[in-house]
Amino acid sequence: MLTRIDHVGIACRDLGEAVTRYQSVFGLILVNQEINEEQGVKEAMLQVADAPAGTSYVQLLEPLHPDTPVGRFLAKRGPGLHHVAYQVADIDAALAACRAAGLRLIDEQPRVGIRRSRVAFLHPGSSGGVLTEIVQPAVHSEEPVAAAGREVQ
Ligand code: CO
Repeated sequence: MLTRIDHVGIACRDLGEAVTRYQSVFGLILVNQEINEEQGVKEAMLQVADAPAGTSYVQLLEPLHPDTPVGRFLAKRGPGLHHVAYQVADIDAALAACRAAGLRLIDEQPRVGIRRSRVAFLHPGSSGGVLTEIVQPAVHSEEPVAAAGREVQ
């Protein structure tokens, strides 16, 4: 069902500062940056520099307001690892399989994620305390698309 780790999500207080740090310290390449009003975040995807396109990413998340899931996470735990996201080929089938397996779902239905992907979150109570996301990328995720979220730049 899971085909690879798509990204790790990291909560930060200042997206611009975090992007610069990941670029300078780890040499990651900024691929995309957008605002997702529904999820209450400003977010950036960075690719590992020498990895082939389409491999794993780091997703940096800055809350738009304190009263959002990432804002509450920051207030409680401070900046750091927020979630792990696995790619799936068919998110509807994957979500149904998770439900059938008795996992606690945060999202009963997939919603729109970064770069027009479809995403759903699984409750950390079902996965050893790790907030887990499943992601079905948009069909042509490597091509520029009119993102569902508002582009920042
Ligand atoms: Co994510």
